[in-house]
Amino acid sequence: MNDPFHQLDTTLSQVWQRLARGTKDRRASTRHPTLATLSETGPQARTVVLRGVDIPAKTIEIHTDRRSDKVAELTKTPQATLHVWDAKASLQMRLRCTATLKHADTEKWAQIPETAQRVYGGTPAPGHEISQPKAHDPQPNPNDFTIIYLQITQIETLHLGSDLHRRARFTAPDWQGHWIAP
Ligand SMILES: Cc1cc2nc3c(=O)[nH]c(=O)nc-3n(C[C@H](O)[C@H](O)[C@H](O)COP(=O)(O)O)c2cc1C
Repeated sequence: MNDPFHQLDTTLSQVWQRLARGTKDRRASTRHPTLATLSETGPQARTVVLRGVDIPAKTIEIHTDRRSDKVAELTKTPQATLHVWDAKASLQMRLRCTATLKHADTEKWAQIPETAQRVYGGTPAPGHEISQPKAHDPQPNPNDFTIIYLQITQIETLHLGSDLHRRARFTAPDWQGHWIAP
C-alpha cells in the first residue's frame, strides 16, 4: 500500500513535510493555519501565516503585532491550538502547542521586507475603533514586532481517504502514534 496515510509513521512525516512546505510556498494549503487561543470571554481563532517550522525542535514560528489581542491572550494562557486543513491532501491537522513570545527581535526584523514591516506598528493599536479604514496610520515599529514560537506537544490528524477516514494522535516526547476512532 503506497498511500502514506495508511501507516502511522508516514502520516506523521506527511504532517512535517506539508507544514514545512507552507513556510516556503505561498500557495501551499498549509500556508495559512488558524491559531486558536483562550480569551477572557471564551475561545478565539484567527488566520495567520506560517513563518517557520523547526522539525527537530518541533516548533512553529508566527509573526504578529505585540499589541494584538492574541499576544495578551497567550501571555495569560500560553496554551494554543493550531488548526490546518490541507485540502490537497484531504488532511486535517490539529496541533496542541505551548507558546513563548519574543518581542522586538531586531535581527529578525531586519530580514523582513519593508512592505511586510508595515503590518507591525501603527496608530492606533490593533483592535481599536477607527472612524474609517483610512484612519489607521501604519508606522513600522520593531518594538511592536513579536514572534510567537509554538512548541508542539501533540498532533492529531484526520485523513479523509476514499475508503476510510483515518484519525491518529501523536504525542511528545516520543511521538509514537495511535489510531483513534474517527
Ligand atoms: C490570510 C491572512 C493571513 C494573516 N496572517 C497574520 C499573521 O501572520 N499574523 C497576524 O498577527 N495576523 C494575521 N492575520 C490577521 C489575523 O487573522 C487577525 O485578524 C489579526 O491578527 C487580529 O487578531 P487578534 O485580535 O485575535 O490578535 C492574517 C489574516 C489573513 C486573512
